[in-house]
Amino acid sequence: MSVTSPLSDLIIHRRSCSKLIGPGPSDEELETILRAGANAPDHGELRPFRFIIFDKSNKDAFSDLLERALRARLDHEPTEGQLLKERSKLDRAPLVLAVVARIQPDHKIPVIEQMLSAGAAAQNILLAALSLNYDGIWRTGEMAYDPMIKSALGLNDHDAIVGWIYLGTAPVERVPFERDLDIADLSWVWEQGA
Ligand SMILES: Cc1cc2nc3c(=O)[nH]c(=O)nc-3n(C[C@H](O)[C@H](O)[C@H](O)COP(=O)(O)O)c2cc1C
Repeated sequence: MSVTSPLSDLIIHRRSCSKLIGPGPSDEELETILRAGANAPDHGELRPFRFIIFDKSNKDAFSDLLERALRARLDHEPTEGQLLKERSKLDRAPLVLAVVARIQPDHKIPVIEQMLSAGAAAQNILLAALSLNYDGIWRTGEMAYDPMIKSALGLNDHDAIVGWIYLGTAPVERVPFERDLDIADLSWVWEQGA
């Protein structure tokens, strides 16, 4: 029988939610969520993570950017459906955070460790939001890798958008989720020569 704690229960039974409505985190809650992100494990204290906030204040401008980036990716005029889908990306949640890895490529701390630290920050953000009773989902998709979007976010070639974290409230009440996972398949004690 495994030992549990409120935090382990929260983590083990978490579930991503792709449809999110209001309310989203308040400014004070957002500060807590960002502090959780910034307290991710960080080899060398490089602070290789940045958090860029998207809410109703910049949604329209960002939708315009998404449309320009889509047009640049396509070699034909986008359909109405494509345009609508692309422009409405930020409508999927009241608050979206771009979690960015600010990479120092020549640093003695390897790039992968800097990326992983930003990834850990993204997960900290999701879990902190969950602990404040919000739901969320980590997405990437083309808008994480598009050079025009990266540039508009002030990133250079070495940097990466490790995720778009959508946060808000689930339309239906959250119930603890049980995954069909066999931990014995995923973990073992190493034995020499095995
Ligand atoms: C780096 C990363 C990128 C992801 N990108 C997407 C994405 O673009 N779209 C998506 O639907 N899910 C994406 N996911 C998966 C979801 O965040 C989520 O984990 C998945 O839907 C499974 O749900 P669960 O977290 O409840 O197990 C991504 C996950 C990670 C770690």
